Amino acid sequence: MATAAPTSHPAPRGTCPFAPPPAYQQARRDEPVSRIALWDGTPCWLVTRYQDVRDLLADPRFSADATRPGFPFLSAAARHLGAGRASFIRMDDPEHGRLRRMLTGDFTLRKTAALRPAVQQAADDLFEKMTAGRTGADLVAEFALPLPSLVICLLLGVPYQDHEFFQRCSRTLLRRDSPIEEVAAAQRELADYLDALTDHKRTHPDDGILSRLVARGELATEDIGAMGRLLLVAGHETTANMTALSVLALLRHPDQLAHLRAHPEATPAAVEELLRWLSIVQSGLTRVAVEDAEIGGVLIRAGEGVVCQLNTANRDDDRYPDGDTLDLTRDTRRHVAFGFGVHQCLGQPLARLELEIALDTLLRRLPELRLAVPFEEIRFRHEMTVYGVETLPVAW
Ligand code: HEM
Repeated sequence: MATAAPTSHPAPRGTCPFAPPPAYQQARRDEPVSRIALWDGTPCWLVTRYQDVRDLLADPRFSADATRPGFPFLSAAARHLGAGRASFIRMDDPEHGRLRRMLTGDFTLRKTAALRPAVQQAADDLFEKMTAGRTGADLVAEFALPLPSLVICLLLGVPYQDHEFFQRCSRTLLRRDSPIEEVAAAQRELADYLDALTDHKRTHPDDGILSRLVARGELATEDIGAMGRLLLVAGHETTANMTALSVLALLRHPDQLAHLRAHPEATPAAVEELLRWLSIVQSGLTRVAVEDAEIGGVLIRAGEGVVCQLNTANRDDDRYPDGDTLDLTRDTRRHVAFGFGVHQCLGQPLARLELEIALDTLLRRLPELRLAVPFEEIRFRHEMTVYGVETLPVAW
């Protein structure tokens, strides 16, 4: 039976919790650039096809600046955040480029590769702690979340001992249904924390990114704080969810898991396919047209908002034949799980490194890894900007 075309955002997922909402999949086939209503009734465009998503994200006629009229907000929480002091993810060039370039040196392939021993050490330490004398654990709390949190703290120069505080704030900021007062409080607390830490670095410099930004002498404390906030939130939530969801996806696909166990050298390719297939930035990427522009044969007028749905784009059969199938041996080049265009994920080399090390460590050292509860009991994070699972009880 055909699913009705989408009329709202977000749309519910179907029976397979890994698949994008059926209504959006259907839209990609029937009306790939379609009209929808956001949570507050605001009309918006939904772009679902691979090529259209790439064209749009590379097109300077579409802005990421949330202060522009018509910018689409996917929740009341997002609208509140959009009105606040922005970090460069919500700016256009040239200002976006100027700020982003201050960080590109920290996330090059070479710089990231040099982090491999430290990331592996962190993974091994967490692994030892999680498994010592035990036969099971919650993989999210004990491995998937602490690993990227530790790494981003190390890079920024943020004390890891504060992780409960910043993880709580991040969670509130990334929930679509967080009450405004809680969003405002989390945003303020995190901003105050990073501003104070940045000021502290002026007199107590270390070799982290915050200290380096201070030493450049070009940015106000609040601007460094805003960059720190973006890196801290983006740097741990995404990879943490991707790690746990990847393990779950593999446990649900024993043939793929067996392939990976038999070919550990194929872990980088497996990570790419999991990134494509899971496309965890489930709410999509938002932009507003600043000039009239045609996308996929549809005229989008200046001032109209757009949501680029990454999960449907990454399963587009025109680009990835049989796109709904998880196939660790396929050619996944140029997937859009990290976005596309000038805002394409700055931390992607680091995310790839962390995911490779996390999967490799778990699969190599836990040959009996399995779910400790029935699959139906796993709670998926439907209400978060970044998809994942709340907890992942596993046994070995
Ligand atoms: C699996 C992990 C990750 C996924 C799926 C992911 C996904 C994304 C996506 C889709 C965007 C584009 C946003 C847009 O165009 O509006 C983005 C941007 C960004 N990501 Fe990631 N990310 C991941 C990990 C990381 C990590 C580990 C870091 C930092 C250490 C990071 C830092 C950033 C930053 C700073 C931006 C903004 C770039 C810009 O606006 O120029 N991300 N990410």
